Amino acid sequence: MKFFIDTANLDQIREAKDLGILDGVTTNPSLMAKEGITGTNNVMKHYKAICDIVEGDVSAEVISTDFKGMIEEGQRLMDIAQNIVVKVPMIKDGVKAIAWFTEHEIPTNCTLVFSAGQAILAAKAGATYLSPFIGRIDDMNWDGMELIKQIAEIYGIQGYDTQILAASIRTPLHIVQAAQAGADVVTCPLSAILGLLKHPLTDIGLQQFLADHEKAKAKSN
Ligand code: G3P
Repeated sequence: MKFFIDTANLDQIREAKDLGILDGVTTNPSLMAKEGITGTNNVMKHYKAICDIVEGDVSAEVISTDFKGMIEEGQRLMDIAQNIVVKVPMIKDGVKAIAWFTEHEIPTNCTLVFSAGQAILAAKAGATYLSPFIGRIDDMNWDGMELIKQIAEIYGIQGYDTQILAASIRTPLHIVQAAQAGADVVTCPLSAILGLLKHPLTDIGLQQFLADHEKAKAKSN
């Protein structure tokens, strides 16, 4: 399973990269706004800065909601760097745009996916990645992980190549469950990635090992 970081924060992207486990980045207009990045030029420059840090795929989302606008925007985004993936919302013109990008060998990430039906449509259009929003489904008191399992089963049966990118991940447990459910990629906040490290028995065990080492060293001196 690939690990993407879901942020537009350059420091967090660098920190995840330094951990040696980072395969890519996803962003969206809300994450850009959170970093105070506004205006087309600044947004483009910021994507370039992200692509300069990360070698793997970087999803950059279109703002247009009509076919023509999405195609033009997608092409401008592709000019930023070779690792850009055009992120397109799961709407009618979005599906049409994904099919067009697929035909022109431009990688896409179909976002805002909340059902298996939408997942089938995105795969048929040839999306490179599919982003079901786990946390937002959980917020509605449904089970986001069930959707990942259902899509993984359907894609397996049908032989679709589209990679399931579990998004709206909020916790380390989401990451573990997404791996178990058959996600190809998880995109997570840095806090969820670092949360995977934590176990009190690791800390206690390490303290003990170091204390025993010190004791043995003192004895031999
Ligand atoms: O990857 C999608 C993500 O950015 C949405 O996450 O936490 O706003 O539902 P969240």
